[in-house]
Amino acid sequence: MRKKIVAGNWKMNTTVAEGVALAKALVEAQNGVPADVQLIIAPPFTHLVPVGEIIRGSRIALGAQNCANHTSGAYTGEVAVPMIAGVGCQYVILGHSERRQYYGETSALLVEKIRLALEGGLRPIFCVGENLDQRNAGRHFDVVGSQVREVLFELTAEEASKCVVAYEPVWAIGTGVTATAEQAQEIHAFIRGELAKHFGKALSDDMTILYGGSCKPSNAKELFACPDIDGGLIGGAALKAPDFIAIAQSY
Ligand code: 13P
Repeated sequence: MRKKIVAGNWKMNTTVAEGVALAKALVEAQNGVPADVQLIIAPPFTHLVPVGEIIRGSRIALGAQNCANHTSGAYTGEVAVPMIAGVGCQYVILGHSERRQYYGETSALLVEKIRLALEGGLRPIFCVGENLDQRNAGRHFDVVGSQVREVLFELTAEEASKCVVAYEPVWAIGTGVTATAEQAQEIHAFIRGELAKHFGKALSDDMTILYGGSCKPSNAKELFACPDIDGGLIGGAALKAPDFIAIAQSY
């Protein structure tokens, strides 16, 4: 059975002190979450060590929000997979729409990053999603299908099986507008279908596909009840411990 995951993407928020306090609050509240739900938090790079110490031995796993497409060397400002893995990260978010949009990340670059992440023992949380114009033009299946094929189909089945996919419609991120459960489910089913065509049904049935975009305690239950939605990648609501835990309790 595929894993259920609720992951918090803290983005560029919180000071180290605030992040440590948030992590402590999450550890204190973690027992309220069903045992089969994997909790992950992805704070900024500067927080990984102190936050990692707080969550050590808890049910919460550590993730990074990005990694470099090289393993070391003269790449000023970048952080490489061995550095991230070396401080206890198990996951790395890759291909977030904010990275694609503001930092020009392409599918080719994401293939490089995903390969390095996997070689370094990290599980990528690979994000896809259409923007509002693409949705309004009825192109969401085309866009998301291309994003999946251009990156995941470059991997071997074994590599792909270690990835988590996150569907995050850009128009729902940070806007308060959530995709309806129906809209999310149909894209999740489509993604799983594409994966099944290429990698086989057994593999695609085992892959975790998360929903992200204005997911909050009030809508998580309906989203997570959908057969192809295996959890959430949470932004804003992940910055408040009670909200993040309430979302994870929605299962
Ligand atoms: P919000 O939950 O703030 O809409 O952000 C979603 C997201 O981008 C998570 O990666």
